[in-house]
Amino acid sequence: MTSAAVLRPWRTSDAPVLLEASGDPVLARQFGGARFDDEDAAAAFIATTYRFDEHARNWAVTAGDGDAQVVGSVGVTAIECAHGTAWVSYWLVPAARGRGLATRALVAAADDAFALGLHRLELGHRTNNPASCAVATRAGFRAEGIEREKLRYGDERFDVETHARLATDPGPDVRPLTIVRPAP
Ligand SMILES: CC(C)(COP(=O)(O)OP(=O)(O)OC[C@H]1O[C@@H](n2cnc3c(N)ncnc32)[C@H](O)[C@@H]1OP(=O)(O)O)[C@@H](O)C(=O)NCCC(=O)NCCS
Repeated sequence: MTSAAVLRPWRTSDAPVLLEASGDPVLARQFGGARFDDEDAAAAFIATTYRFDEHARNWAVTAGDGDAQVVGSVGVTAIECAHGTAWVSYWLVPAARGRGLATRALVAAADDAFALGLHRLELGHRTNNPASCAVATRAGFRAEGIEREKLRYGDERFDVETHARLATDPGPDVRPLTIVRPAP
């Protein structure tokens, strides 16, 4: 699965994958707590939130070529051109984890963002999320510090470690996923 995987923009026809993923409480956090009642709601989320435009480049990670099953997401959002910054996030369905796919997807999305002219990409993970920390670090995002009790899930608050990668930082020794860009 891993070697043939690609990044491509989300399609509303990917709604079934998102609907199933939102049933996982950990993954649901990646959608800002959005809960989808049906495929129409998931498709609407893709259309309004998993956008691909000058403000956000939300990539679906597929398990093969661009028409293969979607197994995750990597998003470059909050693109701010004045300062050349953006926020990055990622997730994979459990069956696709543990093969380096998230790291390769993140490197590909970062390469694309830097090629656009962005200078600084930021991300944050709960300090009790070592997998996300490993993905960020392997993809060349340096840890920059802890934001105390930044996130609240239920009654519990979580410290968040911020990472960032600059366009001028050395690139990681990771083979990026192939990107299938939208037709101009
Ligand atoms: C974070 C996530 C995308 C990682 O996916 P993954 O498939 O395990 O990522 P990779 O295979 O690229 O693994 C990258 C590294 O994480 C390490 N890792 C994975 N799970 C780990 C764990 N539980 N503890 C410590 N390290 C872990 C791997 O060993 C690997 O390190 P290495 O390259 O030095 O061997 C996945 O766990 C996920 O979707 N989690 C839920 C959503 C989430 O937390 N997203 C990030 C929000 S900030």
